[in-house]
Amino acid sequence: MCGIIGAVGTQNVSGLLLQGLKRLEYRGYDSAGIAVISPNQQLQRIRTAGKVQVLIDEVGKNSLDGNTGIAHTRWATHGRPSENNAHPHTAGDAIAIVHNGIIENHESLRHRLLSEGCHITSDTDSELIAHLIHQKIRQGVDTLTAVRSLIQQLKGAYAIGVINKDEPGRLFATRFSSPLVIGLGEEGTFISSDTLALRPVATQVIYLEDGDVADITSDTVTIYGINGEKVNRPSHKIPSNHEIASKGKYPHYMLKEIFEQPDAMSRTIQSRMTTHQVMAEAFGVNAADIFRRTKRIQIIACGTSYHAGLVSKYWFEEIIRIPCEVEIASEYRYRNHIIEPGTLFITLSQSGETADTLAGLRLAKTSGYLATLSICNVAESSLVRESDLVLLIDAGFEIGVASTKSFTCQLEALFMLMIALGHAHALDALKETDMIRELRAMPGYAEEVLKLNAAIQKIAKGLEHKQNCFFIGRGIQFPVAMEGALKLKEISYIHAEAFPAGELKHGPIALIDNSIPIVALAPNDDMIGKMKSSLEEILSRGGNIVLLTTGQTGMENRDGISVIHMPHVPKLLAPIIYAIPLQLLAYHAAVLKGADIDQPRNLAKSVTVE
Ligand code: G6P
Repeated sequence: MCGIIGAVGTQNVSGLLLQGLKRLEYRGYDSAGIAVISPNQQLQRIRTAGKVQVLIDEVGKNSLDGNTGIAHTRWATHGRPSENNAHPHTAGDAIAIVHNGIIENHESLRHRLLSEGCHITSDTDSELIAHLIHQKIRQGVDTLTAVRSLIQQLKGAYAIGVINKDEPGRLFATRFSSPLVIGLGEEGTFISSDTLALRPVATQVIYLEDGDVADITSDTVTIYGINGEKVNRPSHKIPSNHEIASKGKYPHYMLKEIFEQPDAMSRTIQSRMTTHQVMAEAFGVNAADIFRRTKRIQIIACGTSYHAGLVSKYWFEEIIRIPCEVEIASEYRYRNHIIEPGTLFITLSQSGETADTLAGLRLAKTSGYLATLSICNVAESSLVRESDLVLLIDAGFEIGVASTKSFTCQLEALFMLMIALGHAHALDALKETDMIRELRAMPGYAEEVLKLNAAIQKIAKGLEHKQNCFFIGRGIQFPVAMEGALKLKEISYIHAEAFPAGELKHGPIALIDNSIPIVALAPNDDMIGKMKSSLEEILSRGGNIVLLTTGQTGMENRDGISVIHMPHVPKLLAPIIYAIPLQLLAYHAAVLKGADIDQPRNLAKSVTVE
């Protein structure tokens, strides 16, 4: 789980590279290094064992000056953590490379390079890449051609950044099954294994696809596809820190964050999937192996994150048939668990600092789990630093206390994890491609449901003076109903409870009359017949229903029912989209009640005490 950053700037980039490394440190921190091309066209390289700060201190003692450079923070796979094994690796005092991933054919490559007289100085698979490029250049080709030739020679997963002292002002990058993005900024052009590291320096980001090779200068990016043809890859806007910290045109952060969901969702999935595969590498270098050995899943989380976990249980069990338990972290940590062999332990958290979730992780690390994995929104958080594997959701800062965009992004991340695990357990390739296509469509559906805002605002008037509200759903929609109830109680202080619709007649129905609105989630799935029966039971007792459903169910506005017309989304992914109108409903109800939307009473964004 290494981190890469590279830059071609108009001025000395070493400071920017070191700051970038600091932001990438969550990915691994057993050693780090930096190389730049100096003004007199020499490679200057500094590497250190230990955390990035050790490297920063070392660079401080030397002068490192160059407009073109690459840097790396390492988490050892091949070769122990040491200065010698740290990146950048060089060849012929001309080429320097940084690499993230695993070169599967490293043994045969090493053997061949040694027999051809190469002087290999480290135990890493990565150094071989520098020699392969240098060999090609010695045969008379330019760096771009040499980097392109890697595709034929390397097997495995890689994201690579390359500089050549003889071509200053140019940075080359390529990737295969390992994330790598290009950032466009005012001070130059950047590469990184993670959009998060680019946030302060870049305004736009370009996601490279498998086999792409990029030729980068301070103000141009030329990308070649896997067959060598020039390709156009779209650029995406990265919100600036100022935009993140301000409410913009919105009256509250919560509303802004609800509306940011299509972008946040796109960012979360973009650099983690190809058109037919989720990159296991995006979770960390050992992920593919750990996923192959995963037989069961234990998830822990609190609040909204817990609800995301509950949704994912349906995915893990129904689609890839891996048993999954989900537990509230504060309960989990005080139980004596039976841990089956091969259980992957997953923590879900927006902040990565929730005390109970963190305590659960620390307990799990001593309890014999296969490995620990965290899905989180904060790269520098404790949870991220202490987990074996990580998937960052890239939702962007979430300031409103009630979590919104983090929930939908967590769901996307969990769906990607399910696909990656399925892949490791021989999931049908066509099914995998279909699911990836459906997941890619989610940001578009999110845009569509946000257009319902005005309609939902009107419906929210029906909640303003209510004391209580019920939410019902069945199957995979039940956790979404729980999340809807949580949102409403958090910010409007209306008492809200969620029930599986089938459970109504075992108690809650005793409370139903026209004073309690019931929000019902009824997509056109295989539970629709049963949902319709529950709705009739409610109507016959005078209940008022807010119904989220699609045209296909044939249910329309009538006495006692106000319909929110939802787009038809694939059943298993529908929770991601059905959560959004519930966020808007809670928001508008709370606004009508005059509540403090972004800082509801008694609640904290990050609960770091037990
Ligand atoms: C607090 C927040 C909730 C959040 C929960 C878990 O209670 O108010 O919105 O869902 O913590 O937070 P986490 O950062 O671990 O997802």
